Amino acid sequence: MSTQSPRNCTLITGATGGIGRAFAFACARGGDLFLTGRSEQKLAALRAELAERFPGCTVACFACDLTDAADRARLFAAVKAGGWRIFRLCNVAGADIQKAFCRYTQEKIAFQCRINFEAALCVTRFALENRVGTLEIVTVGSISGVYPMPYFAVYSAAKGALESFFTSLREEVRGQRVNVTTVEPGGVYTRPDVCRMIEGQGLWGKLSAKTPEYVAAKSLRAVRKNKRVCRPGFWNKVVAVLPRILPRALRTRFIARRWSKLEKDAF
Ligand SMILES: NC(=O)c1ccc[n+]([C@@H]2O[C@H](COP(=O)([O-])OP(=O)(O)OC[C@H]3O[C@@H](n4cnc5c(N)ncnc54)[C@H](OP(=O)(O)O)[C@@H]3O)[C@@H](O)[C@H]2O)c1
Repeated sequence: MSTQSPRNCTLITGATGGIGRAFAFACARGGDLFLTGRSEQKLAALRAELAERFPGCTVACFACDLTDAADRARLFAAVKAGGWRIFRLCNVAGADIQKAFCRYTQEKIAFQCRINFEAALCVTRFALENRVGTLEIVTVGSISGVYPMPYFAVYSAAKGALESFFTSLREEVRGQRVNVTTVEPGGVYTRPDVCRMIEGQGLWGKLSAKTPEYVAAKSLRAVRKNKRVCRPGFWNKVVAVLPRILPRALRTRFIARRWSKLEKDAF
């Protein structure tokens, strides 16, 4: 039960990461924020920065592991207790493990599926129940979800599932004042290991990579217009139509050769 009078907010998951932070700054111009990530310290630091830049914006925070159902329930309770209703949801939280599937532990498989897929669905369900006005739901998938990616297999499958799910949801909520957009960026300059990987891909990496600010701005414009999918940048649009031109066997072999040389982990 809420102890506060109703307040409206943009709810952002993964707010403490590179892309989530860009969403937070972009959304702070248009109303109050409710931010979540796992780290209380990172959330507090982000809130302090936002307060300095946007003194008129109220920023609420709650640290939560979105792969844990009990923790998610605590987040939802905190949103309700604060009297918050949601007019925009930015599903940004995610984690990218890149390695041969045989090198995964059982825990890592579950973690990847939960954070990259289950978490977005559960938070979306909550936002639909606690919305106000026209609800904008913008979910950060990945261009990796457009086709199967060996050595990035779990991540690309989960991101592909996001596009499939949110495309179905759009149809279910048609006419109910809910805008639903999946964003599919290529490389985005966020963590140092991601930046190194983009640089390591040479010209192709540099052509397709974008800044988090660019991705957030394009995403917010797309969800305002209720676009089904947003692929920020010209090269990502090209990459997305390749499946129509190149045979699958050729594509997956090419990707396997490139990705088998790289490895990154997430926790
Ligand atoms: N960077 C890229 O090149 C790129 C490209 C395409 C798509 N994406 C997608 O964009 C999104 C953000 O990426 P990013 O580069 O900004 O990543 P990042 O800097 O690593 O940030 C990830 C965010 O997700 C949160 N998170 C991770 N595991 C979580 C968990 N179990 N529970 C709750 N929150 C959790 C992190 O919170 P804490 O830090 O507090 O733990 C952090 O806020 C992801 O979905 C990613 O797949 C990224």
